[in-house]
Amino acid sequence: VSSIHDCKIVLLGDSGVGKSSLVLRFVNNTFSPWQESTIGASFLTKTIVVDDMAYKYQIWDTAGQEKYHTLIPMYYRDASAAIIVYDITKPETFDAVKAWVKELRTMGSPDTVVAIAGNKCDLAENRAVAVESAQAYADEIGALFIETSAKTAENVPEMFRRIPAMLPAS
Ligand code: GTP
Ligand code: MG
Repeated sequence: VSSIHDCKIVLLGDSGVGKSSLVLRFVNNTFSPWQESTIGASFLTKTIVVDDMAYKYQIWDTAGQEKYHTLIPMYYRDASAAIIVYDITKPETFDAVKAWVKELRTMGSPDTVVAIAGNKCDLAENRAVAVESAQAYADEIGALFIETSAKTAENVPEMFRRIPAMLPAS
């Protein structure tokens, strides 16, 4: 490992979809069924090694409640990657993903790569968003798509580890 690359990552998505839970699963390998709703935003870091390169992830976990929306541009503005999260059991949270993509496209940087996470895949018996439609939408906008569970940890490290390969060569 020769040098450490800084990588700013922002999590976006409706309140309750599991943004904080995904970050806490990735950073601390913990999960709480009573995770509190985020106020404003929270910041965590974790350094990982992918393909012999070290990345210091600077992770901004934003608050999904509408009253905090006006704060969010300052978190995505110079982000390397945005992870937009929805809850596979709540179709309106997938509509919110599309709204975030539009906002990023108009107000964000064209260099910010997008990953879409369909979270709570442990609740697949209550699924309301088909894998195929989410994958088709992600393909259409050139985003990574992955289903995750912060509860079981399924695909959580994988999602974060796939970000470096998405970044433009620098
Ligand atoms: P805001 O901070 O309000 O924007 O919400 P958030 O997106 O950060 O959601 P949070 O991580 O607080 O999770 C909301 C609720 O969903 C909590 O009760 C979590 O325990 C639960 N939760 C999060 N991820 C999962 C998951 O993968 N599976 C299940 N079953 N529950 C989850
Ligand atoms: Mg939160």
